[in-house]
Amino acid sequence: MLELKKAAESEVEQARNPEDLDRIFNRYLGKEGLVVRILRSLKDMEPLQRVEIGKSANEFNVALRDLIYKKNQELKKHSKRAQKKIDITRPRRKVQFGHIHPLSQTFRRVEEIFQGMGFTVVEGTELETEYYNFDALNIPYDHPARDKWDTFWIKVPNPEKQKLLLRTHTSPMQARFLEKHNPPIRIIVPGRVFRHEATDASHEFDLCQIEGLMVGDDISVANFKVVISEFLKRFLNKDIKIRLRPSFFSFTEPSFEIDFSCVACKGKGCGVCKQSGWVELMGAGMVHPNVFKAAGLNPNDCQGFAFGIGADRLAMLKYGIKDIRHFRSGDMRFLSQF
Ligand code: PHE
Repeated sequence: MLELKKAAESEVEQARNPEDLDRIFNRYLGKEGLVVRILRSLKDMEPLQRVEIGKSANEFNVALRDLIYKKNQELKKHSKRAQKKIDITRPRRKVQFGHIHPLSQTFRRVEEIFQGMGFTVVEGTELETEYYNFDALNIPYDHPARDKWDTFWIKVPNPEKQKLLLRTHTSPMQARFLEKHNPPIRIIVPGRVFRHEATDASHEFDLCQIEGLMVGDDISVANFKVVISEFLKRFLNKDIKIRLRPSFFSFTEPSFEIDFSCVACKGKGCGVCKQSGWVELMGAGMVHPNVFKAAGLNPNDCQGFAFGIGADRLAMLKYGIKDIRHFRSGDMRFLSQF
């Protein structure tokens, strides 16, 4: 028994890991282990021998369990310490940095360019009243032009008093600004607008616009053309084909729209440009006298131009993006490219 004890002790001593300890435990104390076998053989022994051997086998059992337990604790402590060691040669984990969304990058660059031309950046509210979104812009209740803006109306307790909506364009800020400021005026209004419409490669219901307004006593279409071409040149760093096309907006007269040659198909015709080769970039025109009147200004004393650029379209143009829906998809494969 003494030899057995010595052997077991030295094995425990030499154990390097918990698996070694398991093996030792099984060999001596397991179901078919040495101790069990000794205890089983007690019945064939002399009574005196039986008492002696039985006692020391039990003592051995308890002592060995204790020894294994202690050794196990010791091994655990060591392995924890080993884990804590810092390997300074290990390459660091790759850190993923966040970055600015392509639409925000577009806004920032547009603001920078217009500020360089003496424009001030102002912001309106995304929740707007019916008056500023439509009436103040010469779009009365029964005007067919209202149909052009598919609108998200907000449920309010007293709709007869004041109706609220998610603004369908940034133009309400023209009316709000003109009410409070006298010309000369030079502002841009970046922001989100909402239209209750189906989405496709070039349409979103939640989109971004940049409104522009320049008013003085002699601001003309010529000024508009210079400002816009200068802006596009600086923004895109290259010449793109644009075209000016007569259009209609209740709040401008005359009105026009500016299209760019489709970047997806290079003007050949595709899903993005609805086979026309051109994509609409902005609506614009000379501020309508009724807009000045609604803001309390005399249309004989001032004149100017306004425009509304689709910021998503602008970003598509700059980066050659073929589907407007990518911007809000949250897809990192798309976003990480910017
Ligand atoms: N608000 C118009 C739209 O959303 C664009 C526009 C702005 C047109 C200013 C003329 C002048 O379509």
